[in-house]
Amino acid sequence: MEKIELKETGLNNVFTFIARDGSKRLATKSLVRGKPDEKTLKVWNDEYRIWDPYHSKLAALLVKGASIPLKKDSTVLYLGAANGTTVSHVSDIVSEGTVFAVELSPRAMKDLIRVSAPRKNLVPILADASHPVTYKNMVTEVDIIYQDVAQREQAEIATMNAGLFLKKSGFLILIIKSRSIDSTKKAHDVIHDEIKRLEDFFKIKEKIDLEPFHSDHAAVIAEYRK
Ligand SMILES: C[S@@+](CC[C@H](N)C(=O)[O-])C[C@H]1O[C@@H](n2cnc3c(N)ncnc32)[C@H](O)[C@@H]1O
Repeated sequence: MEKIELKETGLNNVFTFIARDGSKRLATKSLVRGKPDEKTLKVWNDEYRIWDPYHSKLAALLVKGASIPLKKDSTVLYLGAANGTTVSHVSDIVSEGTVFAVELSPRAMKDLIRVSAPRKNLVPILADASHPVTYKNMVTEVDIIYQDVAQREQAEIATMNAGLFLKKSGFLILIIKSRSIDSTKKAHDVIHDEIKRLEDFFKIKEKIDLEPFHSDHAAVIAEYRK
């Protein structure tokens, strides 16, 4: 049997390894068994789920060297969970924490419910992130907001959710899709304007563009000044 050497990344349950083709890959240690169609690795008795930076902006952020403030016991509010691809890896990372996963599309929610069913730390919520009052009774105070809603008003959505749920000195990881905000402006200007809107409430820690994994996308990591 081929021997695979996993290297720690500094993020709980996230490892790198060298694939057969010589490329460096990422994987998270599965909290529950992966889906049948998912690419996994077996090392001893544990299963590791391959995490592809071309399919997950959070994985791209990690590969690009960002310092991601997720801990094993973090409580996370994840806005724009879609069908659960990235959120399932966040659930692997915060193995002793909780992820509240908000998604607007009922269709995506069907998949998200399937992903969450075996994961005790993942709570799916069908709601509109621009109306956080509607899920106020379902979400506790959180350490981190991860937002990837691909919408206009991204900074406003982040600020409203932070006001209700983010603890003092908690972190925001905001994925900015420049074309969702204004297709007529240059990506760089759109990102600059969104950051300006955040600055009244957040101290910006890092700004990272997600090329070559996700074109026209950037991520901002910011600390909440409550
Ligand atoms: C780019 S996808 C998210 C991909 C996901 N974060 C991942 O990495 O697997 C954006 C998602 O945000 C959802 N969305 C858009 N507007 C939203 C809103 N106002 N509230 C909640 N979800 C929203 C969309 O339905 C879509 O599923």
